[in-house]
Amino acid sequence: MTTLAILTAAGSGTRLGRDLPKALVDLAGFPLVVHAARRLAASGVVDSVVVTCPPGLDSAVRDVVAQDPHVDVPVRVVEGGGTRQASVAAGLALAGPDDDVVLVHDAARPLAPPRLVRRVVDAVRAGHGAVVPGLPVTDTVKRVGPASSGSGPDVERVVETPDRAVLRAVQTPQGFDRALLERAHAQGAARATAEGSAATDDAGLVEALGEPAYVVTGEEAAMKITTERDLQVAALLLEEES
Ligand code: C5P
Repeated sequence: MTTLAILTAAGSGTRLGRDLPKALVDLAGFPLVVHAARRLAASGVVDSVVVTCPPGLDSAVRDVVAQDPHVDVPVRVVEGGGTRQASVAAGLALAGPDDDVVLVHDAARPLAPPRLVRRVVDAVRAGHGAVVPGLPVTDTVKRVGPASSGSGPDVERVVETPDRAVLRAVQTPQGFDRALLERAHAQGAARATAEGSAATDDAGLVEALGEPAYVVTGEEAAMKITTERDLQVAALLLEEES
């Protein structure tokens, strides 16, 4: 049986303020999506990769990923949808008959190390149907709601302060039993049409089924790139790696 990795790269990444999609932004000479695909391939536990790309960019993405000598697993490219959830669904539709484990990974986390990929796949193969990497939260986190009328627009009311000891900030790659992930996407399909309702991660769709999801220890290097500053931090992490 085989493991398919869906590498989501169809976002616009407007917060980076570049003219090109975030997944194609350069980090130390290579696009983010190439860094992510290299580490998936280097894990030794991924048999093939499907990259979701922005509309009209399939050949550009195929050229940079499939032709990279370090990405030595088969790569297919599919146009993503209007939300991350829709993009993952488009990738999942390409799963082959032997793919019993599916990873979902964001190109926006280009330095997620191969050992993390193995940790997630090992946990799925050990019988956990939905596995996410997570790190303890160091900030105190508040849940907020609207403030009473008369407060300014910048003021929110604190509703709750969860005990941070039981919180985890989750990352990708997330790993799934393929049939469970397909069931979760089928049941949650209606949510995928709008950003406000779409799932921000795939484990959330599994949880909505009432099925358990599990956390394994994440990695600092699996940080998400959202801003220009994140790119600078990633460049430093890469330097430390070499
Ligand atoms: O925008 P954000 O950084 O949260 O996106 C997370 C990941 O989902 C990125 O790798 C992005 O390329 C991907 N994505 C996608 N299709 C969308 C929106 C985001 O594949 N419609």
